[in-house]
Amino acid sequence: METILTTQRLRLTPHILPDAEAMNRWSADPELCYYSDDTPAPAEPEPIEETRRYIERIITRQDDNILRWGVRRIEDDQLIGFCMIVFIDHHNLKCKVGMAIGEKTAWGKGYGREVLEALVRHCFEVLGMNRIGAEIYAFNAPSIRLFERTGFQREGVIRQSVVKNGLYEDEYVYGLLRDEWRPKPLCGPATAIE
Ligand SMILES: CC(C)(COP(=O)(O)OP(=O)(O)OC[C@H]1O[C@@H](n2cnc3c(N)ncnc32)[C@H](O)[C@@H]1OP(=O)(O)O)[C@@H](O)C(=O)NCCC(=O)NCCS
Repeated sequence: METILTTQRLRLTPHILPDAEAMNRWSADPELCYYSDDTPAPAEPEPIEETRRYIERIITRQDDNILRWGVRRIEDDQLIGFCMIVFIDHHNLKCKVGMAIGEKTAWGKGYGREVLEALVRHCFEVLGMNRIGAEIYAFNAPSIRLFERTGFQREGVIRQSVVKNGLYEDEYVYGLLRDEWRPKPLCGPATAIE
C-alpha cells in the first residue's frame, strides 16, 4: 500500500515513470549535487534508460525500510522535487529523512518547509517513530535553516566528511525527537492508496 502526503501547495505521491525525465536532468545538476551528493555531478546526465530503470525499481520494490515520493505542485501537477524516509528501524523507532527541490526556480518559496513538515508528521504520526535523523553538509545554509526551523537540533559534526572543490568539508548530524516536535498546521493527514 502506498501513501500520498498533502501540504497546502504540494502533493507527495509515489513515483511514476514519467518522473524519469526531470530526475535525469537533476542527477547531473552541479549545484544540486554539490549540496546533496558525496560525489561531484557527472559531466553528462546518465542515459535516460538508466534513470527509467531506476524509477521502475523504486516503483516495484517492496521495501519496508524506505519510502520515497515525488514532490508535485498541486496547482500545475509539476514534479518539482523528491523526498524520502530511509533506514526505517522498527525496533528502535528511528529513521532518517532526505529531500531535494530539484527545480531550482522553485527554491526559496517555502516548498522545502512544507515537504519536511509532511515527512516529519508522517514519521511521528503514521510510522510511530521516536527519532528522525538527518545529515547536512556544514556549508548547506538553506538546508540547515530549514531543518533547524522545523525543530531539528544539531547533535554533532562529522569532521572532514566530504571533498568539495578540492577541500574537505564537515557534515552536521541533526536529530528531532518525538517529544520535541511541535506540529505546524501546514500539512494534511496521509492518504492511503492501493
Ligand atoms: C534545501 C532545500 C530543500 C530548501 O528548499 P526550499 O524550498 O528552497 O526551502 P524553503 O524556501 O522552505 O526554505 C529555505 C530557507 O533557507 C533560507 N536560505 C536560503 N538561502 C540561504 C542562505 N544562503 N543562507 C541562509 N539561509 C538561506 C531561506 O531564507 C529559507 O528560510 P526562511 O523561510 O526562514 O526565510 C533546497 O534548497 C534544495 O533542494 N537544495 C539542494 C538539495 C539539498 O540541499 N537537499 C538537502 C540535503 S540535506
